[in-house]
Amino acid sequence: MADTISFARGVPAPELLPVEELADCARTALRDPAALGYAPGGGFPPLRAWIAERHGVEPERVVVTNGSLQGFVLLARRLVAGRRRVVVEAPTYDRPLAILAELGADVVPLRLDDDGLDPEALAAVLREGPPPAFLYTIPTFQNPSGRTLPAARRERLVEVAREHGLLVLEDDPYGLVRFDGEPEPLLLELDGGEHVVYSSSFSKTAAPGLRVGYLVLPRTLAADVERAAVSTYLSPAVAGQATLYEFLRRGLFGPHLRRLRALLRVRRDAMLDALASAFAPEQFTPPRGGYFVWLRLPGGVDEGRFVADARGAGVALVAGADFYPAAAGSAPAVRLAYSAVSPEEIARGVARLAGLVPPLAALESRLATR
Ligand SMILES: Cc1ncc(COP(=O)(O)O)c(C=O)c1O
Repeated sequence: MADTISFARGVPAPELLPVEELADCARTALRDPAALGYAPGGGFPPLRAWIAERHGVEPERVVVTNGSLQGFVLLARRLVAGRRRVVVEAPTYDRPLAILAELGADVVPLRLDDDGLDPEALAAVLREGPPPAFLYTIPTFQNPSGRTLPAARRERLVEVAREHGLLVLEDDPYGLVRFDGEPEPLLLELDGGEHVVYSSSFSKTAAPGLRVGYLVLPRTLAADVERAAVSTYLSPAVAGQATLYEFLRRGLFGPHLRRLRALLRVRRDAMLDALASAFAPEQFTPPRGGYFVWLRLPGGVDEGRFVADARGAGVALVAGADFYPAAAGSAPAVRLAYSAVSPEEIARGVARLAGLVPPLAALESRLATR
């Protein structure tokens, strides 16, 4: 099929990028020689200060990295010495899983329900074995499942972390991309930042090519991560950070976020409408923000086969199993990203998928017997 529709990529569509604004900001930012030199390991100082103020912390607690995944690598390398346990959500973002596997971490999966991770299940894991190096969680509009942890669970999670001396890495690149409802408190806010390291990124809210992500850490850990950054790449990529800072300084971020949310909401709605006409309601949970919907497949459907058949029908998507640690079993599912495709492509793509599974009535009866 000529035109493959991709639900595989969790990136903003080109028309969602603030191209003209960033181009103009770059012209201004790059006239400052500081934007073309080396920067301290913690990041371009004005941007570091802006982020620190946003989170109400001292700038020394912020490390601005070349995308937030880079921050994950620096932190995980520092924390996973030897074969230490790391608790992850199942499913979770696949790239940290690959990094943890490379580091030889003993990855402990925590199954999610519709509300995300269950703090009591976490407490049980913590009582069982050696203390983990950290918990990796994406509490808001999770990649891949779109799920969000409710406020009460957040409070309990922070309590459990305190009781057990557990370090929590809260990864939050999608939190500002909210369509419905009031924001839940950040784990960082609930904890104050002793047991919680916070990670975020401008990849999903401005442009991924800027490569700007950051960590908010306890002071001593921040100094360690900054040292690791300097010995890994000498200086962060300052030009992108300075351009982004100019974008923030001019007050363009707020209006851009409003436009982004409005455009992505239309895509989310197009995805939910299309899914509702082709699949049973139990098969997907509407996300209230972010980039993704998780589509559960009926028990009898072979997930790998479904992904291959979808590709044959002109739809790219990612198999659910990719988001689980190697040894953890998983129920058949796929991740659908609606961020990089138009509402019209979403409707056509889902219609192609609908043709690949048994008719709705058969699906419903199978689901009912699960
Ligand atoms: C949950 C999560 N964390 C981190 C990242 C990495 O983003 P960045 O571009 O900031 O490295 C992504 C990107 O898809 C993501 O989904």
